[in-house]
Amino acid sequence: MCGIIAYAGSERAAGILYEGLKKLEYRGYDSAGLSTLGGGRITTVKRVGRVENLAPLLKDAEGCCGIGHTRWATHGEAGSANAHPHEYGPFSIVHNGMIENYAELRAELVALGDAFFSQTDSEVIVHLLGREYSGDLAAALHAVTGRLKGCWAIAALYASFNGFAVARRGSPVLLGRGRRGNFAASDMSALVGFAESCCVLEEDDIALVTAEEIAVFDGAMRPVERPFRPVEGEAGGEDGKGCAHYMLKEIGQNARTMRATCAALASFSRSEELTARLRSADKIVLTGCGTAYNACLIGARLLEWEYGCPVRACIAGEARCDPPRVTRRTVCIAVSQSGETADTLRAALTLREGGAYLVSVTNVGYSAITRVSDMVLPVCAGPEVCVAATKSYIGQLAVFHLISSPRTAASRRALLSSVADRVEELTAEGEYARTIARLCADSRAVFFIGRGADYDVAVEASLKLREVSYIFSAGMPASELKHGTLALVDPTVLSVVIISDGGTAEKCVNAVEQILSRRGKVAVVTTLPRIAESLGGRVDACWLLPCVPAHASAFVTATALQLVAYRAALLLGLDPDKPRNLAKSVTVE
Ligand code: M6R
Repeated sequence: MCGIIAYAGSERAAGILYEGLKKLEYRGYDSAGLSTLGGGRITTVKRVGRVENLAPLLKDAEGCCGIGHTRWATHGEAGSANAHPHEYGPFSIVHNGMIENYAELRAELVALGDAFFSQTDSEVIVHLLGREYSGDLAAALHAVTGRLKGCWAIAALYASFNGFAVARRGSPVLLGRGRRGNFAASDMSALVGFAESCCVLEEDDIALVTAEEIAVFDGAMRPVERPFRPVEGEAGGEDGKGCAHYMLKEIGQNARTMRATCAALASFSRSEELTARLRSADKIVLTGCGTAYNACLIGARLLEWEYGCPVRACIAGEARCDPPRVTRRTVCIAVSQSGETADTLRAALTLREGGAYLVSVTNVGYSAITRVSDMVLPVCAGPEVCVAATKSYIGQLAVFHLISSPRTAASRRALLSSVADRVEELTAEGEYARTIARLCADSRAVFFIGRGADYDVAVEASLKLREVSYIFSAGMPASELKHGTLALVDPTVLSVVIISDGGTAEKCVNAVEQILSRRGKVAVVTTLPRIAESLGGRVDACWLLPCVPAHASAFVTATALQLVAYRAALLLGLDPDKPRNLAKSVTVE
């Protein structure tokens, strides 16, 4: 949700901020802007839409110090007036987060004679900063945050100070040290290639950064040290893509993610402790949002088979308002690619406060969720830039497979390694994905249908398709069709039927028959040769996937349907990496 970057150093800030913003663009792409400080004067440039729209304006922005922002709109439309930075006299700020009491602050400032130029919640911050300043930028920013309710990552510039100040609560900020100067950024990927080492700011920290020095203060303005560590990871942005789109590149890394996650969990030092916790649990609660929640659906099946206690998957945004009952014997497993999703963090904290032991499953080892968890299980997907989650889902499934088979961990790892080989073969395959994508693109609506774990994959496949192609789509159990949804089936509607379990295959074939007899379109995606043989000539498309054991088929079926979603977006002329209205990391509630 919005990306911020700030720089103070020896080089021209505009170019560095621009490059940093390109790496952060996946966090929001409604508008972009930057302010630089040169000759005691702040210059601000901003544009609606993509970061690249700023390129022609950069020549106007002088100086070796500045702040930049790429926006995902929360308050006010995605117009240029609402683009950050926002200025007030000699001050300029960028903000990621949400100021919940902005309306009352704004009314107060208007009564004092201030004029506002945007509809954002953020603009009050810069007005307050101007009013609080009395010679110390960090102290002024601290005073401002004392008046705010909500969450924020703020970077602030003042025309008479050759550096910047930052503040955080609820939204991530990292500081970076590099040969060319010092930085602040919303995530580590923006620092790759710029900074050699970085630290994560803690809640309510304030930092004052110049080209030479970084000073960090805690919420009481006491100087503190935050541990620096090497900057790791691939560069995001256009340079790091190496493929037509991140979505394709990242689906292509599914197999690698499975292998790396298996390796990490094989050497995880707290496996026995985790197993003991799960064995003595009275209940296991899994929680996450979007794709991470969909991974929880599969995780719940796997864990219940192994541990026998009730296992419940809860949508995090719901769980935080209406939490399941937990005790000191309950284990909560919070799943989040980014580890920064506000709903997931809140739900996890609520369950932990209720007494549950909190295990997080995340792809980002320095994220907020890792700092509140009792135990952290790594998903080793590497940076995921495409807004649509693909390889992280596959990694989350791998974690659930491994923690649900402690007695046979080595053979489960061997199985996953051979399934990874099959997944790899699949990602080289284009023809069937294109055929089914064409059927999707030509349909008014697409239903993904399955039974058991195939239904869980159907729900995820449906989310993937609708977020990148904007085609209406839903996932549903095959058995439910006849209880209502069949009313929607006609020749303009496609049903994608997933069949990977020999035990329930015939029931799914019945669903196919019901759809065909209403002249609905059908595509079958199966790992079972006999199903492909019997349905192949009768449906609009039939994709026979590599044959893998039913309990591990999700890796294969989900990958195939990720490819279908990707191809559908391309056929419709859409950018799959940056779907409209969405952003990668949802740090607001
Ligand atoms: O970073 P998280 O895994 O916590 O993100 C959760 C969801 O916002 C995320 O999975 C979202 O649904 C994706 N865009 C789906 O592709």
